[in-house]
Amino acid sequence: MSDRLGIPVRILGTGKYVPERVLSNFDLEKVVDTTDEWITTRTGIKERRISEGELTSDLAYKAGLEAIEDAGLKAEEIDMILVATNSPDTIFPGVAPKVQNLLGAVNAGACDIQAGCTGCVYALSMAFAGIGSGMWKNVLVIGAEVLSRIIDWSDRNTCVLFGDGAGAMVISAGKGGGCLFAAELRADGSKSDFIKLPAGLVERPASHETVDNREHFVQMKGNEVFKFVNKVLPSFLDEVCEKAQLSSEEIDWWIFHQANMRIIEGVLKRTKQPKEKAVINLDKYGNTSAASVFLAFHDAIKDGRIKKGDKVLITSFGAGMTYGAVIFSL
Ligand code: UT7
Repeated sequence: MSDRLGIPVRILGTGKYVPERVLSNFDLEKVVDTTDEWITTRTGIKERRISEGELTSDLAYKAGLEAIEDAGLKAEEIDMILVATNSPDTIFPGVAPKVQNLLGAVNAGACDIQAGCTGCVYALSMAFAGIGSGMWKNVLVIGAEVLSRIIDWSDRNTCVLFGDGAGAMVISAGKGGGCLFAAELRADGSKSDFIKLPAGLVERPASHETVDNREHFVQMKGNEVFKFVNKVLPSFLDEVCEKAQLSSEEIDWWIFHQANMRIIEGVLKRTKQPKEKAVINLDKYGNTSAASVFLAFHDAIKDGRIKKGDKVLITSFGAGMTYGAVIFSL
């Protein structure tokens, strides 16, 4: 029995925005007890962008505007805006309604998706599902983060990894040759303590104690995440390819969550795929969480690597733990 979805979809446009300020590994050597050598060999990251006062909604708006213009649409033609983020300006209102207002997307619904770094794949899957069901015609999907505001700059385990940025895609209904082959979303809530921002809400309301304990910053058991992802991701991606009825060789481009070069290389090795098939930009931007795959996809479209007809796999993993993948053609 076929599990292949076969939903006709079109990627009409992409956009990206990163703040101007570059923070290199050498800059970080002056902030915490770390070295460029450690960060480069353990992660592949060389530098990242840091927002200087711009909010997540500002980054999301700029990436979203570029994607709509690239798509050749008017903001009024967008009927849904989904923003994947783990660093919203505020818990409510969400980032997406602010973006809707800034864009003047007067006919669009708008909400945030929070699923750790996998929010990007969750948002993409929901966009594809809404289009496939006929509910939506043109969906603006954005991944946007200003993680630098919620990172503990005294914690070398986390502060060297993350960066700020936003990427966007306009996905549309209709027969333009593109097709969604598979979309799979997973979660393992038994690992919810691996990545967390402990305080500030219902479980640990803000108090002097939570501030003193630095509980308003991201905490991560990085090595536990690393082991979990290396265990589940390769066989999960085999399964998604099988559902899409495509072999690894038939996937033209592998767009991984840009968290760690060693994780990416491990999956490519196991699936016997050349490194050239992976779109990598973590060296320039670090881990931009729910934005990372959008930035990579945009860069590879704009520099001509990804072309019409190509088959693309996008996958991510993150807090929850959550993970997921979509496979589509352009
Ligand atoms: O997007 C959200 C999902 N998150 C991730 O994808 C993160 C996944 N995990 C990773 O990418 C890796 O686990 C890290 C890059 C975070 C860490 O690499 P690791 O090889 O797992 O290192 P480790 O945590 O086992 O630490 C090894 C050593 C420790 O020192 P000792 O105990 O061996 O003396 C750490 O204290 O490296 C030390 N260390 C550092 N040293 C220099 C940790 N961070 C740093 C640092 N600079 N920034």
